Amino acid sequence: MTNQRNHPPRTTAGPAGAGRGTRAGDCVIPGSPYSLESMAAYDLLAAHYDAVTGDSSTEATFIDEIIKHACRRAVTVLEVACGTADIIARLAATYQVSGLDISPGMLAVAREKLPEGTPLYLADMSSFELGTTFDVIFCVYHGINHLLDFSDWENFFDCVYRHLNGGGVLIFDIITVRNLEMMASVRQTVQQFGDNYLLIKVRASDEAHFDWDIEVYELQPSGRYTLLREVIRTASFPHEKIRRTLGERFSDIITIDTDGSVANDDNENRTWLVCTKS
Ligand SMILES: C[S@@+](CC[C@H](N)C(=O)[O-])C[C@H]1O[C@@H](n2cnc3c(N)ncnc32)[C@H](O)[C@@H]1O
Repeated sequence: MTNQRNHPPRTTAGPAGAGRGTRAGDCVIPGSPYSLESMAAYDLLAAHYDAVTGDSSTEATFIDEIIKHACRRAVTVLEVACGTADIIARLAATYQVSGLDISPGMLAVAREKLPEGTPLYLADMSSFELGTTFDVIFCVYHGINHLLDFSDWENFFDCVYRHLNGGGVLIFDIITVRNLEMMASVRQTVQQFGDNYLLIKVRASDEAHFDWDIEVYELQPSGRYTLLREVIRTASFPHEKIRRTLGERFSDIITIDTDGSVANDDNENRTWLVCTKS
C-alpha cells in the first residue's frame, strides 16, 4: 500500500453467490446477497484508496501495451477486482470497459470516474456469471491474492475462461510468496498521505497465507485523529502450480516481470501472467 503501487491487496472478501445480474442502484449484482462483514475492509478504505496508492497511469500504459501485443483487435475489456477503477477510467477512451468488484464502497468511488453507463458488477471474482463475454479480462494489483484457497484461484480461472471470447486474453499479476516473505521481514511501513497516516505490518500466518495489519490515522476537523483498523488476509502459491493450473485451461501462457521481460520462476517482484484462450 505504498504510493509506488507495489503494495498488497487489502481485503479478504468472502464468497458471494453467482447468477444472472439484477440492477441495484448503479451496479449489477449477480446472485444472492453479500456478506457485509466480508466486504468491510475495502469499504472502510475506499475513501483513502486513491490517495495512498498514487498515480496509476504507468500501470494503465503497461496494461494497454500488453493488450495491444496479446490481443490486437480487443474492443471489450473487463477489469476484475477493479477497486476504484483508476485503471479502467484511463483505458475507457480506447476500449469498451467494464468493472467488477466485491466492495460497494470501492464501486461507488469507481462510478464517479467512469463514463456514464459503464457496466459495474458487484460480484465475487471466484464465482460470477455476467451473461456476456469480453476480449480481455484483467485483474491487477494483486487482486487474485485476495482469494485464500487455491480452489478459488481455480474457480476464478474458470469464470474468466467462460467470460472470454475465443482468442481472448486474461492478464493478471500476483504478489509472489517470496515477495510476501520479504515484506513480512520488514517491521512496519509508515506512509503519510495528506494529513493522514497509513501503517502496514505484514505477518506470515503459514507458508501460503499472510495477514496485513492496516491502520489509517485520519485527521478530523477537530484536529484529533481517528483510527481505522483492518486485517487483510492474502495468499500466494508457487509459480509452477499456478502455471500448471492455467495450462489446463489456456493455450498460451507468458510470465512477465514488472520491467516487461519474460520471467519463469518465482521472484521477489510483482509477476504478471498473460494467458490466451484458443
Ligand atoms: C488492491 S485492490 C486493487 C484495485 C484495482 N485493481 C487497482 O489496481 O487499484 C483489490 C480489490 O480487490 C477487491 N476484491 C477482493 N476480494 C474480491 C473478490 N473475492 N471478488 C471481487 N473483488 C474482490 C477489493 O474490493 C479491492 O477493490
